[in-house]
Parts: sequence; C-alpha cells; structure tokens
Amino acid sequence: MEIEQASILRHQPCGGAYRELVLNAPAIAASVRPGQFLHLRIPRFEQAVLRRPFSVFRAEGEHISILYKTVGAGTMALTGVREGEVVNVMGPLGNGFPSSSPGSLPVLVAGGYGVAPLYLLARRMDMAGIIFIGAATSDDVLCVEDFAAFGWQIEIATEDGSRGARGLVTGPLDAWLASRRCPEQPEIFACGPDGMLRAVGERAIKAGHRAWLSMDRHMGCGVGACLGCVQRLKKADGSAYWGRVCRDGPVFDASQIVWNNG
Ligand SMILES: Cc1cc2nc3c(=O)[nH]c(=O)nc-3n(C[C@H](O)[C@H](O)[C@H](O)COP(=O)(O)OP(=O)(O)OC[C@H]3O[C@@H](n4cnc5c(N)ncnc54)[C@H](O)[C@@H]3O)c2cc1C
Ligand code: FES
Repeated sequence: MEIEQASILRHQPCGGAYRELVLNAPAIAASVRPGQFLHLRIPRFEQAVLRRPFSVFRAEGEHISILYKTVGAGTMALTGVREGEVVNVMGPLGNGFPSSSPGSLPVLVAGGYGVAPLYLLARRMDMAGIIFIGAATSDDVLCVEDFAAFGWQIEIATEDGSRGARGLVTGPLDAWLASRRCPEQPEIFACGPDGMLRAVGERAIKAGHRAWLSMDRHMGCGVGACLGCVQRLKKADGSAYWGRVCRDGPVFDASQIVWNNG
C-alpha cells in the first residue's frame, strides 16, 4: 500500500452525475489489480479527515483514474478539484478480483458505477466475455463503447426502460443463463448495490457457477483498523465471523457472504 501526493491530470464529466478523475500516481499504477480501491482525501472538504473510497477505473503507465458519481457532500466537494491540484491518495487497497479460471467464460455484472472496477478487469483479461450493465436510467449506463472496443457482448437493462431491457439487470442475465449454448462454464464477476449482488450471488450458487462479488460499504480507515465496514461472512466449515470489507474484501466469493448480517 502506498500513500501518494497525486497530481490531477484531467477531471472530466462523463455524462449525468459522473466524472472521471485522472491522477499521476506511479507507485499505485504499477501495482494495482482490478477490484482494488483508493482511499482519497478530498481537498478543501471540511470533513477531509475521513477519506472516501473509489475503485480504480483505468490504470495505464504512471496514471490511474476513478469514475465517480456525485451522491453527497464529499463527492460534491470532489467535483471542485482542478487539473494541476494535488490529492492525497492511499492505495491500492483491498484484495481485488482473482484471475478468471482457465476454460471459463467471464460474465461481468455491473450496477451503476460498479462498472468501474469491471472495466479494469476486462481490460486485463485475455479473452472477451459478456457484460450485463444495469442502471436506473440511461444516464447511469457507462463504458458501453469501451466494452464494445474490447469485443465484449453487452446486455443493458434500465429500471425506467430508457435504454436496453426495462427492469433489473437480472432479467437479461437470467435469460442468457437459461439459453446459453457455449461449452465454457460461466464465471461471474459483479460490482454494484447489495440487492443486485445478492440476487446475482444466489443465482450463481444455485446454478453451480463461481461468482465474485465486490461489496460497497461506508468506510472509515480503509485498512482494517476501525471496524467501520464489517460484514458477516462464512468459513468453508459453515461457521460465521465478522470480516472487514476494506481488508478481507471488497471482493468475496459469493458463497462466503451472509446477507442478513445476523
Ligand atoms: C470499495 C469501494 C469502491 C467504491 N468505488 C466507487 C466508484 O468507483 N465510484 C463511485 O462513484 N463510488 C464508489 N464507491 C462509493 C463512494 O465511496 C461513495 O459514493 C462516497 O464515499 C460517498 O461520499 P459522499 O461524501 O459524497 O456521500 P455521503 O454524504 O457520505 O453520503 C451520501 C449518500 O450516499 C450513501 N453512501 C455513501 N457512501 C456509500 C457507500 N460506500 N456505499 C453505498 N452508499 C453510500 C449515503 O448513505 C448517503 O445516502 C465505492 C465504495 C467502496 C467501499
Ligand atoms: S474501514 Fe476501517 S476496518 Fe474497514
């Protein structure tokens, strides 16, 4: 894990409430794996003592970027940072996604900004697969051109029907799983809100497919010290324990997660 004073190279709108922030962070760029995240101190933000976590979106050469949605005070303050300014960044944090299993077909499932770590995962994969992109409206459908350029099959669902199928992303996913003819075993990699992750994980477990879920949690320290991000998890013997999403995750095998946190 590094702490870098990263200068901002670009900060550009990506449509709707989304922006991409591109940083010069050579040490993080050199070591980041898909699914790992940054903990970023937002300049001129009065609660700056609390960092904000964001998945690494792109990583090329000495540069990394995040793709973020403005949802509250911190991300609103982030929209005001300018090219040439410096931000304090911790990372890369967490475990990230594993490599896909030999002979499997990668199936990505993204909800909203959950597409960010899946972009880097696809960018680093040797083979193209299929991505299911779920969003509230067409404004939240991101990176379609990027996945098309990689040669991936793309299925889109929006809750208001403004792009792709109307409804939840599990609609097209279920249809594809039921009708697929490929000989390879699907291996699922997903990032998005809890409801989507739970639905995807339950389908994968039922069908006997491996699934890796990247969880989104409020975070304090980001490094395992404050217990601000705990999640009930299961060991292979079935016993449960409290894990830390920042350090033990954010990516978990679907079969590890106890969803009711009981
Ligand atoms: C590992 C990880 C990776 C992430 N990657 C990205 C990313 O690539 N792009 C992106 O836009 N966001 C990402 N997030 C979420 C991002 O950290 C939050 O949106 C951000 O911290 C909100 O800060 P804020 O001060 O603007 O919002 P706040 O004022 O703190 O909260 C505003 C609203 O957002 C909700 N919220 C805040 N944080 C979270 C969270 N972690 N999960 C769910 N709801 C939350 C609050 O409950 C509230 O309703 C990630 C979170 C984690 C844990
Ligand atoms: S955020 Fe502090 S333990 Fe995870």
